[in-house]
Amino acid sequence: MPTKIAAGNWKMNGTQAEMPQAHLIAEAAAAWAGVTLLCPPATLLARMSVETSGPALKLGGQACHRAPRGAHTGDISAPMLAGAGATYCLAGHSERRTDHGETDADVAAQIEAIWAAGMTAILCIGETLDQREAGRTLDVLRDQLDGSLPPRATAGNTVVAYEPIWAIGTGKVASPAQVAEVHDVLRADLTDRIDGGAEISLLYGGSVKAGNAAELFALSNVDGALVGGASLTAEDFVPIVEALAES
Ligand code: PGA
Repeated sequence: MPTKIAAGNWKMNGTQAEMPQAHLIAEAAAAWAGVTLLCPPATLLARMSVETSGPALKLGGQACHRAPRGAHTGDISAPMLAGAGATYCLAGHSERRTDHGETDADVAAQIEAIWAAGMTAILCIGETLDQREAGRTLDVLRDQLDGSLPPRATAGNTVVAYEPIWAIGTGKVASPAQVAEVHDVLRADLTDRIDGGAEISLLYGGSVKAGNAAELFALSNVDGALVGGASLTAEDFVPIVEALAES
């Protein structure tokens, strides 16, 4: 069975002064052992690892550079994130692709770096609204997998998150039928593409909330969610974690 993961991506939210809120989310979510992964900003990672992490709560980075060290002002490397307590790291989030011009080749190199640092990569893929309306969704996703998923991927080192770009932070969640169609195709594709592909965790991301989580988790190839806005308070996030644990 693929591992169930409710991942909270805090993006660029969370200062040291907001640590009490971070603790609250971490502690509440950790009640569901093993299911919760939090990806705080890198500046909070080490503190959260020391103060709130335990076997029940996993921590992840949001992005990393492809190199382990060097002259890359403002960047952060995979070994730095791992050393600060991360065991997962996102790669290829659409906000990174847009804000920083990251390409599929960059993402593939970052995933190699994440693996080299001993972490699990969460590869994010997704189509724009124009691509969906042009009927190109499945081709776009296949191209992203071709370009950004290195051949050494296994269910042990990789998670794939389907995040339609038009659903991220917009309040427009993809319908269960849209999610099911894509996840079934991704499962078949990953099973063909890599050893153990049937076991890779497939997450859905894009405006997941307490009110829509249970119907998404009921779909056969949805193993969890990557949650942005609704992971910023315990009140919003905990019901999502609970819905996954009970699915
Ligand atoms: P959202 O973000 O839940 O706020 O739509 C999801 C994501 O970007 O991972």
